[in-house]
Amino acid sequence: MKSYSCLTLLAVSFLSGACGLWAQGRGPAGTESGFATFQTKCMSCHGNPAVERAPSPSAIREMSPERIYEALTTGPMKAQGDSLGDTEKRMLALFMSGRPIGAEAQGDARLMPNQCASNPALSDPASGPEWNGWGVDSFNTRFQPARGAGLTAAQVPNLKLKWAFGFPGGVSAYGQPTIASGRVFVGTDTGFLYSLDAESGCVYWSFKAKGSVRNAISIAPVKVAGAKYAVYFGDSHANVYAVDAHNGSQIWMTKADDHFTARVTGAPVVYDRRVYAPVSSSEEFSGSNLDYECCTFRGSVVALDANTGKQIWKTYTTDVPKPTKKNSHGVQQYAPAGASVWNTPTVDPKRHAVYFGTGDSETQPAPDTTDAVMAVDMNTGKTLWVYQAQANDAFLGGCNPQNKTENCPDAVGPDWDIGNSPILRVLGNGKRVLIAGTKNGDVFALDPDKNGEKLWRNNFADKQRTGIVWGGAADEKNAYYGFSGGGIVAVQFATGEKVWFNPLSPANPNQRVSNAAAASAIPGVAFVGGTDGKLHALATADGHQIWETELNRAFDTVNNVPGHGGAMGAPGPTIAGGMVFVGSGYAVLGGANPGNVLLAFSAP
Ligand code: HEC
Repeated sequence: MKSYSCLTLLAVSFLSGACGLWAQGRGPAGTESGFATFQTKCMSCHGNPAVERAPSPSAIREMSPERIYEALTTGPMKAQGDSLGDTEKRMLALFMSGRPIGAEAQGDARLMPNQCASNPALSDPASGPEWNGWGVDSFNTRFQPARGAGLTAAQVPNLKLKWAFGFPGGVSAYGQPTIASGRVFVGTDTGFLYSLDAESGCVYWSFKAKGSVRNAISIAPVKVAGAKYAVYFGDSHANVYAVDAHNGSQIWMTKADDHFTARVTGAPVVYDRRVYAPVSSSEEFSGSNLDYECCTFRGSVVALDANTGKQIWKTYTTDVPKPTKKNSHGVQQYAPAGASVWNTPTVDPKRHAVYFGTGDSETQPAPDTTDAVMAVDMNTGKTLWVYQAQANDAFLGGCNPQNKTENCPDAVGPDWDIGNSPILRVLGNGKRVLIAGTKNGDVFALDPDKNGEKLWRNNFADKQRTGIVWGGAADEKNAYYGFSGGGIVAVQFATGEKVWFNPLSPANPNQRVSNAAAASAIPGVAFVGGTDGKLHALATADGHQIWETELNRAFDTVNNVPGHGGAMGAPGPTIAGGMVFVGSGYAVLGGANPGNVLLAFSAP
């Protein structure tokens, strides 16, 4: 385990303020013990660049104390929190946030100065420009055709910031904005969902979910008394919600999975009065603790009735975990486990199928449904076929060579989850392809009409620039995938040939930027963000950059919340009605900056 002295911390700006206060004895009561706990129990992961998803200490420091306390008691850090007393957890939350528990009440829209003057009835979302859900359409193409975009390639270089909205208390802007009926719907890490006016950024309403909302929002007609359209989304506690799109009142809430580490990170997709919601988990981040019964979570997709939230089916990606051995602490171990579904499912009405990617196994041997694309029947959830992209991938967080425990798989990794939604596309000759990417830079195409038979699979990694994580966009010809090692590639999906590659940032590995956030496209232009806070627009013909903007900076916000952009680490920009929307400040990689803004651009 790494240890950090106060001097080391002083040298690193993120903790210097707190460390200074502590050294001078001026910190709030309890900060010393909170600091010690953080140093000994948390910094092996938080602040360790090898643990990719662990928020940096600076990001945790900007979180609310309620949220840190919750993470340690019922949230993703429960395994770590269980070894601490309640006072220790409270002190930790106080030290890290600098604020006492109980201060969170700032996120409610009713407290904001930018209220919309009136709230007229919603127009039919399908009658105007919309970017609905994660992928714009149920094929998850992330390609907005000309009519919906209202923005041409010639106008893109003129894009200017129109307004910015700040998420109060937010540190990770990881909800992807949905645009429908002239409104923006966006979830946040603070648990609030907002409905804003797309033109002005005035706020209609907010809704407080039980956990953070990391996915995109899907909107669809609903048949219940008093509501015409509902927005659908999931939270970090695996709850799926339907909320009245007009006024933000809850229609239903259904828990998609009971495991304490379960959560919904991909967007639920709505098709033909059904909601298909993916379930993932944080179990793989903390399973190596010897006092933990490792591992019992299994990924799934649930189909819910869109009007009532009632479950129609639930399909697990692995079998029921069975007891294996007891570890040296006498704690029972289980297998199989894992195969989280991190991404938004893709709906194929022609085959009555739902497609999704699965994550790695947490236990050995890895089942053949891990790191795979799976197809299940829309009506029954029955598995139709599985294409495994990577075999033998058993991975658990905290299992690096220095602190590998008996809970760990013998061979750890490579951690190559399929985190991106499969994209369904129709070729000129009527043939169809289902495309997805891997964390080592492969793109592959499957035949959805031949049980997922592989059509082609090629590697597009350019030197060390590998890693497809949150996914790509596909227009009529090419798919565009950004890499976690930096850069973006265009691949002709009929043939699997590379069309172009743009590295976007310098080759120096010390300055490496991740461009693995999901790309988005309109005719002639592909958009992709980076962990450096830059948003790029590239010509799809040859990949040359036609526009770039710096989002890693302070912003004046329409709701007067101190706003700061940062890394773009997962979702991508959404384009509709002549505007581009993007959340900025999702810092999944060490060194990248957190942020709390939703930004709206237009081309005058
Ligand atoms: C084994 C590695 C590991 C250790 C040890 C660890 N964490 Fe974490 N922590 C993570 C990872 C990975 C995540 C990201 C989880 C996710 O995305 O849900 C995380 C997330 C968090 C979050 C954010 C939760 C949220 O809801 O956004 C907080 C707060 C946190 N950790 C606090 C702590 C504290 C306090 C400790 C020490 C008591 C600690 N962690 C120890 C790996 C670790």
